[in-house]
Amino acid sequence: MRGARPSPGWFSFVALAASLSGGPALASGDKALGEYLSSECTACHQTSGRQVGGIPAIVGHPADQFVALMNAYRTRQRDNVVMQTIAARLTEEEILALAAYYESLKPPG
Ligand code: HEC
Repeated sequence: MRGARPSPGWFSFVALAASLSGGPALASGDKALGEYLSSECTACHQTSGRQVGGIPAIVGHPADQFVALMNAYRTRQRDNVVMQTIAARLTEEEILALAAYYESLKPPG
């Protein structure tokens, strides 16, 4: 057993997803496309990095974690109807692009 280490729910999922996928090298996304696509996300997710009204901040997430989160909504392993709908509409390329863009944004502080 490893020591009890409190971790947010998404982290353990990401670790699992990474191990299941065998960790292939991630193609890097097109940041400009990501910025364009993010206009849909900023209605809910603040680019300031502040969490507002229970909606998590998504700036500064490492790209591989971001992709794993989006895939978790896509495959409905994560249960949120709004995000499931949004993720299902995005292509792999678009998710990579969003991941590259959001990774490049720095949370404040
Ligand atoms: C209508 C509001 C809304 C919009 C628009 C929206 N989201 Fe979300 N998003 C949420 C909510 C609410 C959650 C938290 C869901 C949960 O509890 O699993 C979330 C969670 C996430 C998470 C997981 C964050 C974490 O750390 O757990 C990611 C990544 C994400 N959204 C990305 C996006 C992207 C990319 C877009 C645009 C393509 C987008 N969202 C658009 C409401 C929204």
